[in-house]
Amino acid sequence: MLKSLDQLFKENEGKRAIGSFNVHCLEMLPAMLEGAKELDAPIIIQTSPGTAEYIGLDLLVSSMNTLVERLGISACLHMDHCKSIEFLKEAIDAGYTSVMYDGSSLDLEENIKNTRIVTNYARSKQVSVEGEVGTIGGAEDGLVVVAEDASYTHPEDAYRFVRETKVDAIAVAIGTTHGQYKSKAKINFNLLTELSANLQDVGLVLHGGTGVSDEDMRNCVAQGMKKVNVGTELNKSYIEEVNGTFSSATPLTSLRKLLLPANNRIKDIVIEKSRLFQLM
Ligand code: 13P
Repeated sequence: MLKSLDQLFKENEGKRAIGSFNVHCLEMLPAMLEGAKELDAPIIIQTSPGTAEYIGLDLLVSSMNTLVERLGISACLHMDHCKSIEFLKEAIDAGYTSVMYDGSSLDLEENIKNTRIVTNYARSKQVSVEGEVGTIGGAEDGLVVVAEDASYTHPEDAYRFVRETKVDAIAVAIGTTHGQYKSKAKINFNLLTELSANLQDVGLVLHGGTGVSDEDMRNCVAQGMKKVNVGTELNKSYIEEVNGTFSSATPLTSLRKLLLPANNRIKDIVIEKSRLFQLM
């Protein structure tokens, strides 16, 4: 049975942050969950609304349920960065166990108002909700959020947002960006310490996990991040592997053989990152 984000937070309190990995196509999914199984770690599989539409909500939910039962692991299915309340309701009705309403581009009042609609709906179905305050720059699902628009989370805004929306998790902007960095992320650890000290009842979420150094990642987890998102690294690595195998394929080469190296690489990344998220 799939678990909510809130359940995973409770079960892993003081042990680790939970890796939340973006699935980009259905072929990747078994490899991701097998990675979690091999490390005996919980996992969050997240989909952008674009991926969810491409694969289909029902197929994602049923595939997750089948694989989680087969492998006997702890997992949550989460909708990442969704700006449509209606689509989030559809995802909840289909069986997602966690959703993110992204109202970060709205003013705070409106962000709170809309997020509250989502938390009210989700609560009645035991589904968790993540919100966002501040803007995490970079590219989300291929759509570029210009760097100038990125802004650190204002602590007072975050406290009010959590109080008034009753979210289970909050994405905070502390200096990471989505996508591959040209330069190393400049994480504002002072801000993280302040947010973490004052937001103990809610899960802090680090977006933009690709390109963050192992040392910064460990520090973020040690200082209170509870969910860490990794997306681009999986996409990039899959492309690298299939570029290699497909270029020498003939019409008679089994597609299965062409995809296997990419699936194995995905599994390795999930293991490597999830290991990094464990508290010593
Ligand atoms: P990256 O693509 O930088 O790993 O970020 C993923 C993410 O935060 C999705 O919400």
